[in-house]
Amino acid sequence: MKKFVLLAATSFLLAQVANAADIKKGEDLVNKGGCIACHGAGMDKPIAPNYPKLAGQYQSYLFHALQQYQAKHQTPLYGRNNAIMSGMVAQYNTQDLQDIAAYIASLKGDVYIRDEMH
Ligand code: HEC
Repeated sequence: MKKFVLLAATSFLLAQVANAADIKKGEDLVNKGGCIACHGAGMDKPIAPNYPKLAGQYQSYLFHALQQYQAKHQTPLYGRNNAIMSGMVAQYNTQDLQDIAAYIASLKGDVYIRDEMH
């Protein structure tokens, strides 16, 4: 029984590590990806009012948004149709998108988040 618990705990931890988002890697990807050219310094100073502020937004929301741009507008119910952003995210894999989302979520910004969960 003890062995089983230890094994379960170990595999849980390993799974966590494998899926964990890497904020530092996300920062590199955002810097290399030229995202601040439009979303501004710290992803919080967009160059135009119709360009979203992103710093501090929920990680899960950001990840989902990025995946939707990648999917484009596949069905009327899924995907986002935006030529700029679909072009921007085409190069990334799912882990990259997780890392990017984690980094942007970690930044302080003006986006108003209702609770203190992150
Ligand atoms: C050329 C300008 C430009 C660049 C460069 C750019 N974006 Fe965007 N981004 C936009 C615009 C415009 C939108 C709003 C698109 C829409 O209406 O769906 C947007 C939307 C987003 C959203 C969705 C926000 C929301 O609240 O739903 C995310 C996330 C995002 N961008 C992340 C990034 C990341 C990460 C990069 C770099 C890899 C990047 N953007 C580079 C212009 C840009």
